[in-house]
Amino acid sequence: MKIITSIAELRAWRKTLLVAGETLAFVPTMGNLHEGHLALVAAARQHARRVVVSIFVNPLQFGQGEDYLTYPRTFDEDCAKLEAAGVDVVFHPSVEELYPRTEQRYKVEPPAIQDELCGKFRPGHFRGVATVVTKLFNIVQSEYAMFGKKDYQQLKVIEGFVADLDFPVTIVPVDTGRADDGLALSSRNGYLTPEERAEAPRLYRNLKQIESSLKAGDSDFVKLTETARADLENHGWRVDYVEIRTAQTLDHARPGDKALVVLAAARLGKPRLIDNLEVSL
Ligand code: PAJ
Repeated sequence: MKIITSIAELRAWRKTLLVAGETLAFVPTMGNLHEGHLALVAAARQHARRVVVSIFVNPLQFGQGEDYLTYPRTFDEDCAKLEAAGVDVVFHPSVEELYPRTEQRYKVEPPAIQDELCGKFRPGHFRGVATVVTKLFNIVQSEYAMFGKKDYQQLKVIEGFVADLDFPVTIVPVDTGRADDGLALSSRNGYLTPEERAEAPRLYRNLKQIESSLKAGDSDFVKLTETARADLENHGWRVDYVEIRTAQTLDHARPGDKALVVLAAARLGKPRLIDNLEVSL
């Protein structure tokens, strides 16, 4: 497995694949890798001959007071996992390599969805994600790129700009990897105390509860989401949102819609946890 830190070297390696007629799949990450990330790598290996994983904690997508400086950086352990998973190249640029100017002048501006759901609580976050993923796509130029459904709104933003701006890449969504008790795997779970870790699966349990109510024919979306919010708040969570949206476009769901997604974000102690569940009626 090769570790590449410069854009020029990554481009040169990419060119050798084109000459050899080998396909490429790309998994962008911020590192501190867990089984959820490795499921993306496994999907990548199924789609293409060669796999590149980027590890880059992107300052542009973190807001004031967020955890950019303390975000867990575990590069050596990450590389050991990626090597064992059969990855060909790890792309690990410095901040100066990706952002040589003190300010990134041109950015990719998502539409109104960037101010809803997580975007409402993280202003500028999806602009930062769309911008760095655009840069990474232009550098890597893979045929495929894998993204987790764990970050459902992020997946939709990326699918949106890839379609609207004609990026020649196929986005492959990958199911959320979970611990045995249902908690979605996340680098931020490491911030939980043992007591909070035991409490954390409540988020997913509430999504499952909403799913069974929806499947039983309940279409009082406000009541369903408010019940979940109350359960979480009664157990010490600070809830940003629990919402039911359409799965394809993330519009507000209306009774009669068949393809839905239930999304939630809430703080438990220090970390803010997010999760979601697609529901087909
Ligand atoms: P990061 O949080 O490291 O996640 C990298 C990829 O792994 C994303 O596509 C995310 O959805 C996926 N992922 C994380 N946890 C997962 C889980 N439990 N199951 C399945 N997939 C999971 O998301 C980012 O980094 C950044 O925003 C990035 C896209 C790299 C841009 O900076």
